[in-house]
Amino acid sequence: ETNDTKKMIEAHELLKKFYHHLLINTKEGQEALHYLQTRGISLSAIEQFDIGYSPPAWDVAVKFLKGRGFSLELMEKAGLVIRKEDGNYFDRFRNRIMFPIHNHHGETVAFSGRSIGEGQPKYLNSPETSIFHKGKILYHFHQARLPIRKQQQAVLFEGFADVVSAVQAGVVNAVATMGTALTEEQARILRRNAETVVICYDGDSAGMDAAVRAAELLAQAGCHVKIATIPDGLDPDEYICRNGSESFHRNILESSRSLTAFKLAYLRRGKNLKNENDQIRYIDEALREISRLSSPVERDYYLRQLANEFSLSLAALEQQLERYKKKEH
Ligand code: CTP
Ligand code: MN
Ligand code: MN
Ligand code: MN
Ligand code: MN
Repeated sequence: ETNDTKKMIEAHELLKKFYHHLLINTKEGQEALHYLQTRGISLSAIEQFDIGYSPPAWDVAVKFLKGRGFSLELMEKAGLVIRKEDGNYFDRFRNRIMFPIHNHHGETVAFSGRSIGEGQPKYLNSPETSIFHKGKILYHFHQARLPIRKQQQAVLFEGFADVVSAVQAGVVNAVATMGTALTEEQARILRRNAETVVICYDGDSAGMDAAVRAAELLAQAGCHVKIATIPDGLDPDEYICRNGSESFHRNILESSRSLTAFKLAYLRRGKNLKNENDQIRYIDEALREISRLSSPVERDYYLRQLANEFSLSLAALEQQLERYKKKEH
């Protein structure tokens, strides 16, 4: 670990404490604190996640870091300040709720700042730096690792608010990818620590597509994968706020399904299965999906389900399945 690395991390640690103090103890932070409270984020969650507030001025971090002897040139490499043409520096994060991001040792290496209300972009993130590689870090992993190992299960979310809400709801094995697609590296980290990963992405179509891709990657890494479905296009945080934690456990997490069951449910969307054409379309699409399964037991399982649901002979379905299997190769 070089001296620069140490300094960059130290700056993040100090700034994190300062932003947190501004949120909790100062008049400047009141609006942000109130915003968090209206979102149902408790004081103890604010403490646990070390959430903070960066004021609107252009030089809060600049002055703070300079005053503690940090080189602003290095602070720019750390992603905390930005250099202007005239050689002066200004703060990257202004008037935002600050979510510190920790590496897996628990050191603070980046921030994501959420606008208060509707300002764009919704989240402003630290850039990639020598201490922050977004694709190699899972948000909250440093605190979730132990419960993940104990339960041999991790619950994977898209975003910060989802993790905070989930932890408040007792899901302590919660981690998030911070909006970008799950990477192979992140999949390997999860596999090393848990047998099972429950994917709990947003209930909109972007979230569902991302869930399928993440599931395939995790399965390749050797994880047992389940996918939760959040109704009405809600995200996990919104669901918990509206329906409570008990419902989240029972109706979302405990009702999570295999990738195949999730895909089959996905194929049903927008179809009226009482209508003959839609029925035949669904059976056909489902068979193509089932034909991709490598496990004969799984294939048999879903085939029987299909046969039962639509009162079809297993023989006919198997015959059709063989055709699709040949086409695949
Ligand atoms: N994200 C980001 N930059 C953005 C938007 C999103 O980095 N401009 C990341 C954040 O990690 C965010 C995640 O993508 O948490 C999921 O995005 P989205 O669902 O749009 O946001 P929410 O997490 O639902 O945020 P909130 O509840 O605060 O609106
Ligand atoms: Mn505190
Ligand atoms: Mn989303
Ligand atoms: Mn969301
Ligand atoms: Mn949300």
